[in-house]
Amino acid sequence: MLLHLELCALFLALSPLASLAAPSYDHPSQTVLSQAALSDILLRGLPILGPDNGCSKSLKTCDWMAKIPDNTPLVRMNLPGTHDTSTWNYSATTQASLTQYTGPLPPAYLFRCQERSLLQSLNDGIRVFDLRFAYNPGNDTIGFYHSEALLAPATTMTDVFFGLYQWLNEHPTEAVLVSINHESGTGTPYDAKIQEMVYDIINSDIGEKYWVQTSGSLGTLGQARGKLTLLQRFTFDLLPAYKTKRIGIQLDPGHWTDNGKAIELVYNADKGLTAFIEDYYDSSLPLTSTPSQFIEDKFGVTTAHLGNATLFNLDQLYISFASAAAIVTGVVKVDMTPRTFAIGNGTDTPGMNQKLLPWLNARKGSRFGVVMLDFYDAVPGLVEAIIGL
Ligand SMILES: *[C@@H]1O[C@H](CO)[C@@H](O)[C@H](O)[C@H]1NC(C)=O
Ligand SMILES: *[C@@H]1O[C@H](CO)[C@@H](O)[C@H](O)[C@H]1NC(C)=O
Ligand SMILES: *[C@@H]1O[C@H](CO)[C@@H](O)[C@H](O)[C@H]1NC(C)=O
Ligand SMILES: *[C@@H]1O[C@H](CO)[C@@H](O)[C@H](O)[C@H]1NC(C)=O
Repeated sequence: MLLHLELCALFLALSPLASLAAPSYDHPSQTVLSQAALSDILLRGLPILGPDNGCSKSLKTCDWMAKIPDNTPLVRMNLPGTHDTSTWNYSATTQASLTQYTGPLPPAYLFRCQERSLLQSLNDGIRVFDLRFAYNPGNDTIGFYHSEALLAPATTMTDVFFGLYQWLNEHPTEAVLVSINHESGTGTPYDAKIQEMVYDIINSDIGEKYWVQTSGSLGTLGQARGKLTLLQRFTFDLLPAYKTKRIGIQLDPGHWTDNGKAIELVYNADKGLTAFIEDYYDSSLPLTSTPSQFIEDKFGVTTAHLGNATLFNLDQLYISFASAAAIVTGVVKVDMTPRTFAIGNGTDTPGMNQKLLPWLNARKGSRFGVVMLDFYDAVPGLVEAIIGL
């Protein structure tokens, strides 16, 4: 009831009639209400967003885009990203608390690809997210998954975007690319309703302020600062015909070859725009291969792609996934991203991230494009090496 009254007061204060009278801004209701509403949203978003512990301006990764000229095309930049971003807090405990929704699943660590939350990783310099949505339990709100692993049933897409908007308010020089993918295999419907919900979220009044509105191409850093840029990896094929607005670029899932080592995905034929993508996550080596053979295989594929990014098509988008799904313990291979593969199985077997660091440092100043990582924090300096700091 109190809330209702305060909202009415807010409406009056904003109406043109009220503005004829001398406005009185000493009443705290508007600020108090909006802060309370935002806190509520961020609290619901917490399991995916994580807390924002801030970032020291002396840290090189904090607001690193501030030093890059406005006219720099995004496709020419080096943008570190996190693969399966939302899995950062998925543990056996989380999984056990959600079994009522998911039923029994493979061990939790197989689904987990990150240690750092979204807000923490933004402060660490990460600027690309890989978010995978489907209905939360009840099929009424949109949540996040990795395969069949539901990650946070009470957190919605809206909550998470608000958290990102809030971070951007505090870091207006920064640009964040958000790859959004519909996660299949969750056992939830993919229907017209969910497509409309996503459409309405990104095209709401607030969404229009925080998402880059350009469609079909990626512009300059200057145009993207303080905003989210959509990399749309799902289709809007079930939308009502009048919902025609599109923003960002569409990387059509139908043309994103599964496990591709060098995908060329045309996202704007009229302008001749192609995304060059390496997404080789599931090694084709025999299961009896050793961890170092798997790592060498993945490293070869990723650096072949990154090497091309340094040399060719500098005005086209390059996306390389340094993340992978093969784990080998003895002869057992399972199809999710393990920390062991990302960081090596001990000091004797350098993982992808350790091997990548010197490779990148030897090519400082080159264009690498978007580089998607698992457990980036396992190797200090990796994010800086991608950015070129
Ligand atoms: C992380 O997961 C644990 C275990 O499920 C939970 O207690 C904790 O609240 C989670 N952290 C956040 C920020 O949601
Ligand atoms: C959600 O969708 C799934 C799959 O279609 C269905 O089994 C389930 O009953 C639905 N839940 C609700 C609450 O409608
Ligand atoms: C690298 O570029 C060359 C020349 O365009 C091309 O033939 C090759 O397929 C590319 N390899 C990868 C992994 O992108
Ligand atoms: C790591 O893997 C290598 C190659 O299979 C093996 O020789 C080594 O013993 C493993 N080290 C650890 C700590 O498991």
